[in-house]
Amino acid sequence: MASAQQLIGLLKSHAEGDEDRFFDLAMQLAAAEEQKGHKRLAEQLRSWAEAGQSPPEKVRAVPTPIAAPRGDLAGLLSASYPTARINDLIVPEQLDDELRHVVVETRMTDALEAKGLRPRRRLLLSGPPGTGKTMSASALAGELKFPLFTVQLHGLITKFMGETAQKLRLVFDAVRTTRGVYLFDEIDALAATRGGDDVGEARRILNSFLQFLDEDTGPSIIVATTNLPEILDRAILRRFDLVLVYELPSEPAIERVMRRRLKAFDIAPISWAAVTHLAHGLSTADVIAASEDAARRAVLNSSERIDTESIAASLNRRRSLQGIGGAINAEGSQTSDSQRHRGEPPIQPKGRRGRKAT
Ligand SMILES: Nc1ncnc2c1ncn2[C@@H]1O[C@H](COP(=O)(O)OP(=O)(O)O)[C@@H](O)[C@H]1O
Ligand SMILES: [Mg+2]
Repeated sequence: MASAQQLIGLLKSHAEGDEDRFFDLAMQLAAAEEQKGHKRLAEQLRSWAEAGQSPPEKVRAVPTPIAAPRGDLAGLLSASYPTARINDLIVPEQLDDELRHVVVETRMTDALEAKGLRPRRRLLLSGPPGTGKTMSASALAGELKFPLFTVQLHGLITKFMGETAQKLRLVFDAVRTTRGVYLFDEIDALAATRGGDDVGEARRILNSFLQFLDEDTGPSIIVATTNLPEILDRAILRRFDLVLVYELPSEPAIERVMRRRLKAFDIAPISWAAVTHLAHGLSTADVIAASEDAARRAVLNSSERIDTESIAASLNRRRSLQGIGGAINAEGSQTSDSQRHRGEPPIQPKGRRGRKAT
């Protein structure tokens, strides 16, 4: 058996995205097992280690034609080959850990199955828009070097139950036979149909989805996302192996997001406490968009420098675009009309949770 030290080394190198070290350690482990006469285990370790190696960038950019959905599936699934990684995501540590764990579980499927266990393969990601749910599905695919198949929910739901079930069957056949990450994005669409005119029929569609979900997903991972967890049935929730709740970014997360996006600029003058306060209630995607807005303006002004005032103005523009209250100034107080007329950023954020999903 591998020593605790070796296992820690493996997990650590993996968590840090240090693929070369991960590969070396796995190979060392394989050699040690082989010496002990555990030939099969050694072979398995080597094949996992090789599977975990990134193909060269050029190869990754070119889609593997085998995985491209054909025939009837073409309108139901779209394939992509994401290069996103879990390191690109800025999420709370616990979420990050769970996503990494899913990757390791998938890589170690055989070892788990040998002990009668299954890797967790059905994930539900819920939370407000722009918090990284779709990106997480890409990152899982990117880490595992799996294709990402996005299920076209709107193409799936037809007026005729028989047809819908047939289409779902096609999708789930692919789930079983073609290894990939299958993304049922914004699954609310499916659940919401229960409120439609023909409730009976809509329920049958939903039930048939749940039934398929119950089947073994084979080597694939299913990721469903929702912006509106409250409309999802308990019956749906318990079908998933793992439910991850995404939230609007915390102040430290906001700062990380901005620093990362603005790293090409001189951001030394920024007062982070003031800026992160202004970003309260905005999603990660909004914070990125505001950073890009400030960056664009700096470039147009031939400036390398971004200060608190310019980033505050960009955040306030984002707030009003998203309809989350008016703008606030860097001290957090509502700006009066007279201040606004002097060209200073204008008002009062609403609560972080009071935001309507878009
Ligand atoms: N947690 C995050 N970490 C890093 N980038 C993020 C995060 N959330 C959102 N983004 C950025 O915003 C974009 C949209 O996010 P997305 O994953 O589509 O959000 P959601 O699916 O939750 O609505 C992403 O492509 C990424 O650029
Ligand atoms: Mg999304």
